[in-house]
Amino acid sequence: MASRRCRRLPLLLPLPLLLLLGASGFFQSYAVEVDVKDASNATCLYAKWMMKFLIKYETNSSDYKNTTLDLSPGVTHNGSVCGNDTQAALLAVQFGEGHSWSVNFTKTNETYQGDFVTFTYNTNDTAVFPDAKRKGPITVVVRDTMIPVQLNNVFVCHSTDSLEAENVTQIFWNVTVQAFVQNGTIGKKETRCQADTPTPEPTISPTTANMTTASTTTASPAPTTPPKPVENPVTGNYSLKRGNTTCLLATFGLQLNVSQDKPHLINIDPKTTSADGACGNTTATLKLNDGNSTLVAFTFVVKNESATIQKFYLKEVNVTLLNHLNGSVISSADNNNFSQWDTFLGSSYMCRKEQTLEINEDLQIHTFNLWIQPFLVKADKFSTAEECLADSDLNFLIPIAVGVALGFLIILVFISYIIGRRKSRTGYQSV
Ligand SMILES: *[C@@H]1O[C@H](CO)[C@@H](O)[C@H](O)[C@H]1NC(C)=O
Ligand SMILES: *[C@@H]1O[C@H](CO)[C@@H](O)[C@H](O)[C@H]1NC(C)=O
Ligand SMILES: *[C@@H]1O[C@H](CO)[C@@H](O)[C@H](O)[C@H]1NC(C)=O
Ligand SMILES: *[C@@H]1O[C@H](CO)[C@@H](O)[C@H](O)[C@H]1NC(C)=O
Ligand SMILES: *[C@@H]1O[C@H](CO)[C@@H](O)[C@H](O)[C@H]1NC(C)=O
Ligand SMILES: *[C@@H]1O[C@H](CO)[C@@H](O)[C@H](O)[C@H]1NC(C)=O
Ligand SMILES: *[C@@H]1O[C@H](CO)[C@@H](O)[C@H](O)[C@H]1NC(C)=O
Ligand SMILES: *[C@@H]1O[C@H](CO)[C@@H](O)[C@H](O)[C@H]1NC(C)=O
Ligand SMILES: *[C@@H]1O[C@H](CO)[C@@H](O)[C@H](O)[C@H]1NC(C)=O
Ligand SMILES: *[C@@H]1O[C@H](CO)[C@@H](O)[C@H](O)[C@H]1NC(C)=O
Ligand SMILES: *[C@@H]1O[C@H](CO)[C@@H](O)[C@H](O)[C@H]1NC(C)=O
Ligand SMILES: *[C@@H]1O[C@H](CO)[C@@H](O)[C@H](O)[C@H]1NC(C)=O
Repeated sequence: MASRRCRRLPLLLPLPLLLLLGASGFFQSYAVEVDVKDASNATCLYAKWMMKFLIKYETNSSDYKNTTLDLSPGVTHNGSVCGNDTQAALLAVQFGEGHSWSVNFTKTNETYQGDFVTFTYNTNDTAVFPDAKRKGPITVVVRDTMIPVQLNNVFVCHSTDSLEAENVTQIFWNVTVQAFVQNGTIGKKETRCQADTPTPEPTISPTTANMTTASTTTASPAPTTPPKPVENPVTGNYSLKRGNTTCLLATFGLQLNVSQDKPHLINIDPKTTSADGACGNTTATLKLNDGNSTLVAFTFVVKNESATIQKFYLKEVNVTLLNHLNGSVISSADNNNFSQWDTFLGSSYMCRKEQTLEINEDLQIHTFNLWIQPFLVKADKFSTAEECLADSDLNFLIPIAVGVALGFLIILVFISYIIGRRKSRTGYQSV
C-alpha cells in the first residue's frame, strides 16, 4: 500500500571531516524523498530532505573518535505510516549497514508537528566505525524542534538545523515535509522555518565592510542595511577535571572569523558551550562544543627548553563548524602547527588584548581576555600569570616614556643653566 520513491541527488560536499574521519576526500550526500500513500493510493505523507550524522564513539583502544555517517543510495522507508487523528504519522528510513532514522508526527485540529526523532546507528558498520569497542546498534531518541505547521501547509527549511544528543549530532537541510496530507495533494502554502526567513546578515565589523562589498559579485544585490559591528564575545570560564581535581583552567572569549563565502564573525556563547577534553602530563586538550555544530579543540604540549627549563605552548587548534547556509562542514586543515602562548610550565598564560590565531586562509580565531593554564593547576586556581607582549607593552612603555621625559627635563635644565652662566659671565665682562 505504501509505495516508495527514493531518488538520489548527487551533491559534492567538501567533507572536511578531515579531523573527524582522519581522511580527506569528497563524499556524496543524497537527498532522500519519501512519498507514503494511503489505501486509495493518495499521498498522505511526503518528505524530501538531506541529512548526515556526526558520531563520537569509543574505539577498541579506549579513546573516542569522531566519525561521520552519510546517507547512501538505497534508502528504504519500511514502517512509514500515514497516521490519522488517533495515530501518529511515522516517517521511517533505513540505510547503509543497519542504520535507521525516524520521526513521528502528531496533529491537532489545526496543526501538525514532529514529535520524537529516533536514530539507530550500527557500530558493526566497519566502514564508518572501523575500530569500535562496542559492536551493535545504538539508539538515540531526541525531541524534534520542528515548529507546529498549519495543516495542509508544507514545511520547508533550506537552512541547516541540527539536533544533538548522546554523542550524536544530526544535521538536516533542504527539508520539505508534509504530514497528514489531504486529498493526496501537497500543500500550496509553505511554512518556512525561522532560519530561512531573511534576517540581518551575520554581522561584519566596519573594517571588513569595504572588502565585503568589493568581494560580492555584481550579480548579487547590494545589502540594504549596512553591516553592524559585531560585539566582542562574552568571556567564558571553562575547566577540565581529572578525577575530582581541576587539571585545566581556561577563561576567554572566542570569536571565529570565517571568510569562506562571505566573511563573517561568530561569537562563541559560553552559556551554550560545553568543555571536554583530556589532561596529561605533557599534552592537554580542551575541546569546546557550542551546541550549534561548532567545535574548537586546543592542544597544548610541554617542551624541554633546556635540561632544567620546561615550557608549554599551544600546538594545535582544530575547528569544525557547520556552514549554516548550505549544510557543508568547514574544518581547519590538518597542518596547523602552532607555537604560541609560550609559557613556563607551572605558570599560566594571560592575554587580555585581542589575539588572532590564523587557522587557515578561511578561518581565524580571535581570543579576548584570555587566561589559561593547561598543566599543573593547583587548588582550582590559576598560578602566576605570564602576560603576553600585547598586554605588557604599555606597562613597560610607561616607565620608559616617563624616564625619557625626565631625562629631557634634566638636559633642558642643564642646558639652560650653562647658557645662563655664560650669559651672566659675558654680562660681568661687559661691565
Ligand atoms: C586535530 O587534527 C589533527 C589532524 O587531523 C589530528 O591529528 C588531531 O588529533 C586533532 N586534534 C584533536 C584534539 O582533535
Ligand atoms: C498507484 O498509482 C501509481 C501511479 O501514480 C500506479 O503506478 C500504481 O499502480 C497505483 N497503485 C494502485 C494500487 O492503485
Ligand atoms: C487510524 O489508523 C489506524 C492504522 O493506520 C487504524 O487502525 C485506525 O482505525 C485509524 N483511526 C481512525 C479514527 O481512522
Ligand atoms: C582495533 O580494531 C582494529 C580494526 O578492527 C584492529 O586492526 C586493531 O588491531 C584493534 N586493536 C585492538 C587493540 O584490539
Ligand atoms: C558518549 O561519550 C562519553 C565520553 O565523552 C562516554 O562516556 C559515553 O559512554 C558515550 N555514550 C555513548 C552512547 O557512546
Ligand atoms: C479535499 O476534498 C474535499 C472533498 O473533495 C474538499 O471538501 C476539501 O476542501 C479538500 N481539501 C483540501 C485540503 O484540498
Ligand atoms: C569566571 O571566573 C571569574 C573569576 O575567575 C569570575 O569573576 C567570573 O564571574 C566568572 N564568570 C562566569 C560567567 O562564571
Ligand atoms: C577576517 O578574516 C579575513 C581574511 O583572513 C581578514 O581579511 C579580516 O580582516 C578578518 N576580520 C577580522 C574582524 O579580523
Ligand atoms: C557551501 O558553501 C560554501 C561557500 O559558499 C561552498 O564553498 C561549498 O561548496 C558549499 N557546499 C555545498 C554542499 O553546497
Ligand atoms: C547557530 O548558528 C547560526 C549561524 O551561525 C546562528 O544564526 C544561530 O543563531 C545559532 N543558534 C544558536 C542557538 O546559537
Ligand atoms: C624532558 O625532560 C624530562 C626530564 O627533565 C625527561 O623525562 C623528558 O623525557 C624530556 N622530554 C623530552 C621531550 O625531551
Ligand atoms: C537545496 O535545494 C535547492 C533547491 O532544490 C538546491 O538548489 C540546493 O542546491 C540544495 N542545497 C543543497 C546543499 O543540496
